[in-house]
Amino acid sequence: MKKIFITRAIPEFGLSLVRESFPRLDIWDGELPPSREELVQRARGADGLLCLLTDKIDGDVMDAIGSQLKVISSMSVGVDHIDVAAATARGIPVGNTPGVLTDATADQAFALMLSAARRIVEADRFLKAGKWVTWSPSLLLGADFAGSTLGIVGFGRIGQAIAKRAQGFDLRVIYHSPNAQPAYNAHPVDLDTLLRESDFVSINVPLTAQTKHLVNAKFLAKMKPGAVLVNTARGGVLDQKALYAALKSNKIFAAALDVTDPEPLPLDCPLLELENCIIVPHLGSASKKTREMMALLAAQNLIAGLKGERLPNCVNSQAIYDEKL
Ligand code: DGY
Repeated sequence: MKKIFITRAIPEFGLSLVRESFPRLDIWDGELPPSREELVQRARGADGLLCLLTDKIDGDVMDAIGSQLKVISSMSVGVDHIDVAAATARGIPVGNTPGVLTDATADQAFALMLSAARRIVEADRFLKAGKWVTWSPSLLLGADFAGSTLGIVGFGRIGQAIAKRAQGFDLRVIYHSPNAQPAYNAHPVDLDTLLRESDFVSINVPLTAQTKHLVNAKFLAKMKPGAVLVNTARGGVLDQKALYAALKSNKIFAAALDVTDPEPLPLDCPLLELENCIIVPHLGSASKKTREMMALLAAQNLIAGLKGERLPNCVNSQAIYDEKL
């Protein structure tokens, strides 16, 4: 009987599907993720591993689990927590969950953009602190949204879904993304042009060695003065020290971050002191239906891998399957 380790309780939607074919499930029931040692100890001997973005899965972890490991399925679209090259070298397919979280994440990017522009979080805190004494012509003025220019860095599924939404707000949309075709009236530009012209910059690239700290002091210095930055991708894409300096000096108007580095963000992080920085705890895909669909896709990948079939969504499919054809 196949052994499966699942690193956290995921929606039953996915679990029940796995159980139908593979009843021997071992599910970590802690609220916190298992430590590296706990993960290895529980997963040792497993044929299938279903993990989350909070689990760092490198070659040593794979080796410690054992050479019988047939599939790693992550309930996430991002796989920067997995050493995919190490999995490929061991012939292990890695599954992810693209598509089903596109709308939820694009909605979140929009919510953050509008909240940062119109100072919604700050205004809520202001009111609840009893500071609202009267309507005033100059109270908590924000940045204009309709008619402004939105620059999307990374024009994949989520970037395009943001551009689609932007049409309804009469935004001019430009993007920078090598090889991506134009869509939803968005126009490709080089990165410098995007930073020079955009009132809002949305980060939508995966975290890779190339995109690590893409948003650094140089990037921020090139942004239009008074612009707003939104990151719903990965915290590691952004140099938080550089962002702090740009926000503190009001070089940019505001930032809104769905993701940070590390996660959770330590409470002494200077960004937390800033009124013009909204930070939420990685909630881009946090809707019930989205999480159910993510669990379903992760389950389908896991099951396919255990049965020796091609994973419906496999990030290293070319190396794993096409080589064997
Ligand atoms: C993912 O799946 O990679 C997302 O970041 C989860 O919200």
